[in-house]
Amino acid sequence: MTRDWDAGTYDRIADPQARWGRGVLDRLPLAGDERVLDAGCGTGRVTELLAVRLPRGHVVALDASASMIEAARGRLAPFGDRVEFVVADLARPLPLSEPIDAILSTATFHWLADHDVLFANLAAVLRPAGRLVAQCGGVGNIASIHRVLAGIGDGWLGATYYATPLDTARRLQAAGFVDVECWLTDEPTRFEPGAPFETFLRTVILGAHLQRLPEAERDGFVRTVVERLPEPLIDYVRLNITARRAAGVPEAGSR
Ligand SMILES: C[S@@+](CC[C@H](N)C(=O)[O-])C[C@H]1O[C@@H](n2cnc3c(N)ncnc32)[C@H](O)[C@@H]1O
Repeated sequence: MTRDWDAGTYDRIADPQARWGRGVLDRLPLAGDERVLDAGCGTGRVTELLAVRLPRGHVVALDASASMIEAARGRLAPFGDRVEFVVADLARPLPLSEPIDAILSTATFHWLADHDVLFANLAAVLRPAGRLVAQCGGVGNIASIHRVLAGIGDGWLGATYYATPLDTARRLQAAGFVDVECWLTDEPTRFEPGAPFETFLRTVILGAHLQRLPEAERDGFVRTVVERLPEPLIDYVRLNITARRAAGVPEAGSR
């Protein structure tokens, strides 16, 4: 199940994601004329950097959240019809009519529970030999926040899935990818204490938790998490992925 996002706030505060996204994009070699899918584009901050690198190409900006896509439309309007917007769930076969030359995805895969299905859906729209370059939360991500969450409310840790590099490599190979490389990087990220840290937690990490609570309890929940963390620092761990689609995987629509 996908969740609602406060796209306006996310766009303003997602500096860590934008910074990591730039690094991930740097790992995607581009000639400038490709058709590239941004799988989970959010408000389009990373998509914009991608579009700049495709002066003769196209971007498919895909996200499950209509509010994220609406924000991305605004940000990416200057690129005109070189950017196509798709509201779709990466857990379902993707409704793309033309094959994709490469896939970029940042800070998204961990929101999906079933990575076998995710990678099969991506492989089905990617042309043979097309690259997948991605980063998402990996095993150990936000462990200190999980420790706090385990001891408050009903102990729910959220619906995110932080995979290991080994499991991810096996899944990618099973989905028809080759030249697979997966590795973890620690990205401990410090925030301004007080409102900036609380807003970040509320918007990005605790959004799904807060949606399960009555409005009146939400601020208190965020404050409890902050009070129980030793410092305004999030122990992010990122799972990096590079892979190439082998020949012989069925194209979209033929499954
Ligand atoms: C943290 S944001 C990352 C956005 C952007 N890539 C960035 O780096 O700033 C995660 C995005 O994944 C999208 N998302 C989560 N689950 C999804 C799914 N099943 N299908 C498509 N998009 C999904 C969310 O709507 C959200 O826009």
